[in-house]
Amino acid sequence: MKNAVISSTGLWTPPHSISNEELVEAYNAWADNWNRERDADIASGLIEPKTHSSVEFIEKASGIKSRYVMNKTGVLDPDIMAPRIPERPNEQISVLAEIAVNAARQALERAGRKPEDVDAVICAASNMQRAYPAMAIEVQQALGIGGFAFDMNVACSSATFGIQTAADFVRTGSAKSVLMVNPEICSGHLNFTDRDSHFIFGDVATAVLVEEESIAPAGYWKILGTKLKTEFSNNIRNNFGFLNRAAPEGIGAPDKLFKQEGRKVFKEVVPMVSKMISEQLDELSLQGTDLRRLWLHQANANMNRLISTRVLGHEASADESPTVLDTYANTSSAGSIIAFHKHSEDFKPGEKGLICSFGAGYSAGTVFVEKTA
Ligand code: COA
Repeated sequence: MKNAVISSTGLWTPPHSISNEELVEAYNAWADNWNRERDADIASGLIEPKTHSSVEFIEKASGIKSRYVMNKTGVLDPDIMAPRIPERPNEQISVLAEIAVNAARQALERAGRKPEDVDAVICAASNMQRAYPAMAIEVQQALGIGGFAFDMNVACSSATFGIQTAADFVRTGSAKSVLMVNPEICSGHLNFTDRDSHFIFGDVATAVLVEEESIAPAGYWKILGTKLKTEFSNNIRNNFGFLNRAAPEGIGAPDKLFKQEGRKVFKEVVPMVSKMISEQLDELSLQGTDLRRLWLHQANANMNRLISTRVLGHEASADESPTVLDTYANTSSAGSIIAFHKHSEDFKPGEKGLICSFGAGYSAGTVFVEKTA
């Protein structure tokens, strides 16, 4: 069995950012219009009026202050309330693959790796632009990589599942260098007219280069252990799919977009993930205090506070459990990778940390790492 390591990471951030203030203003204008159009039914008590969203609620309940998006004007237009991303001809790379390529180039450059040195590409994300050809194959072609490529989807846990899949290819000798990308255009499946969740997601792309230890550049990250878990839950759903073509309510209908029971998710996922991390620490003969930093999934700041307290035995400082939620919001599978990418340069050789994701499925993944010289 070979040793798999993380050689480098890459991050691509969209150029447009939307603040909570801007988002709430758009939502409230949309809600006012909706109420105005139904004022007779509301006055007669037939339907409930839409109530306003609030900047204060969003920040307090989630820790989110702003998010990056691929298209700002559509999302903020009360008559549209969705990103407007033009379709592309078949001859052009898809937008999902394009943003993955942007992040991938940075990861390759940081590792001093040429595309021809890479053996495989995995595109691991919570929403794929289409069924096939795979976005991963487009990335492979755009970069000039040989070998093989495929897409996989484990919702918010796609990146940790992707890292373990890549590491398993390396461990068994199927590949020496695997590029794992997470293009997440979460604004595409977010219902911007749903007050409970319109603020949750943002767009981004991340990349992780997983390689055999013998070829990795200096300063790589040893992968000490990985663990994956899934457990069925109806509390986070996205019913969009190829069988919905004839759905009477149409593909843009609320049922075909992101939907969650946020409070239930919070309550059920915190103990599940804390337990999983503790068990994996035991298996690796490590204590929570051996971990210099936790790069947790970025869905909710309060949730991360609870998980890190259970793992470390005390409330984590911003240094021990950094957040990127304030600027990026929830970027599904990419969240913990953004946190790792932005907050790992200060690690000294021998220091250990944990990349951890959790989300729909339910699904959860842990990747314990140690910095080398
Ligand atoms: N503005 C103002 N008030 C709002 C609001 C908004 N945008 N959205 C909801 N509220 C109100 C609710 O109507 C409710 O009011 P009530 O008490 O009068 O009924 C109140 O705020 C609390 O709502 P609730 O949904 O219970 O809030 P919460 O504290 O659970 O926070 C989340 C909501 C989504 C931020 C939180 O549950 C969460 O992040 N959960 C985990 C989600 C997760 O990890 N998902 C994985 C996704 S990949």
